[in-house]
Amino acid sequence: MNFNNFFFLSKREKDIVFNMESVNIPILTTGKQDSQGSHVTSSYSKYDDSRLSLSSWGLPQPVLKYYRKIGITRLFHWQAECLCTGNVLGGGNLIYSAPTSAGKTMVAELLILKQVMEYKRKALFILPFVSVAREKMLSLQELYQDVGVRVSGFMGNFNASGGFSNVDVAVCTIEKGNSLINRLLIEDRIKELGAVVVDELHMVSDTSRGYLLELLLTKICYVARKCEPVKEISENTHRNPVQIIGMSATLPNIHLLAKWLFADLYVTDYRPVPLTECIKIGTSVYDSQFKKRCDIYNDYIVPGDDEHIIPLCLETVSSNHSVLIFCPTRNWCEKLCESIAREFYRISRDSKYQGETGFIFLLTLIIFSLF
Ligand SMILES: Nc1ncnc2c1ncn2[C@@H]1O[C@H](COP(=O)(O)OP(=O)(O)OP(=O)(O)O)[C@@H](O)[C@H]1O
Ligand SMILES: [Mg+2]
Repeated sequence: MNFNNFFFLSKREKDIVFNMESVNIPILTTGKQDSQGSHVTSSYSKYDDSRLSLSSWGLPQPVLKYYRKIGITRLFHWQAECLCTGNVLGGGNLIYSAPTSAGKTMVAELLILKQVMEYKRKALFILPFVSVAREKMLSLQELYQDVGVRVSGFMGNFNASGGFSNVDVAVCTIEKGNSLINRLLIEDRIKELGAVVVDELHMVSDTSRGYLLELLLTKICYVARKCEPVKEISENTHRNPVQIIGMSATLPNIHLLAKWLFADLYVTDYRPVPLTECIKIGTSVYDSQFKKRCDIYNDYIVPGDDEHIIPLCLETVSSNHSVLIFCPTRNWCEKLCESIAREFYRISRDSKYQGETGFIFLLTLIIFSLF
């Protein structure tokens, strides 16, 4: 039996049902070798539809149910291709890059499940900020709760009760992740760890915190090289002691990073929602070729809104879509948020727009601070 053919080995029949052979899925190394020796895959042509169905991956029913609940029954082509890249299903390191909202998290979620349920090892899921780590902890708890995988977190003032011993998946910030790894090394318990997932891997070049991520990954690589690869008794195969899974939407030197981490590399430019770049000059909107597309709503030019953000948002929200706005500072965010809310409230009372759904759900407008 080839290890790579199985997502979940059939050691515990009840839990473990995934068998790629049963749906006649060949092992993938579809990637072209790039000049640095890593896999770069972006062609979807070699896939038949059967491997895209989530149920064909033999995941436990509660996990399938969770994904169904959030509207996912099929993998995107790139997700299936990425999972099957190189030795990823065999426990090899993976670095992957896909545009924002392409669904990067799901690839990591499935690989974590494999480590925890199949190999009985723990996983660290590292995110850069307390807020996103907390959000991820809650969503993973929901995803894994019915398959007996314990998820908790280490972030800010919050530490999982009972510590790392009491969790299977620890969601943490970079600093907490680094401390956990130090502790495991000091106590000679690193063997408990099966996977380290680093979300937003571009943080490695952050001037203030990037070095911690670099340290953390260096330690894992060092341990992995020092340790003998784990040999499965029942299978004549080896896998990395700790699998590193790193993802980002924006990694300029991704080849170098993959080389450094001895990882298979997967890059795609797939976007579930197409992105169209436009430029607004005065009250006119141009496409990226400087061809005029439209003029903004003159009716709702508001004094003080020199950038015409309100009419721009109005156009999108009134056609029932959502808007994300990025501002340079938190203060800027708060002020803009207040003025948009005020103006939208005023406009929503305007008889011309009474009853339009876009104005009933004003919460669809979200504003982010860049810092
Ligand atoms: N196969 C799929 N089918 C449908 N929706 C999916 C699929 N995979 C992921 N999604 C959904 O796509 C959305 C974006 O996914 P996710 O947050 O993982 O994106 P991301 O690539 O991590 O983006 P970012 O770079 O912004 O973090 C989520 O709502 C997720 O549930
Ligand atoms: Mg993400």
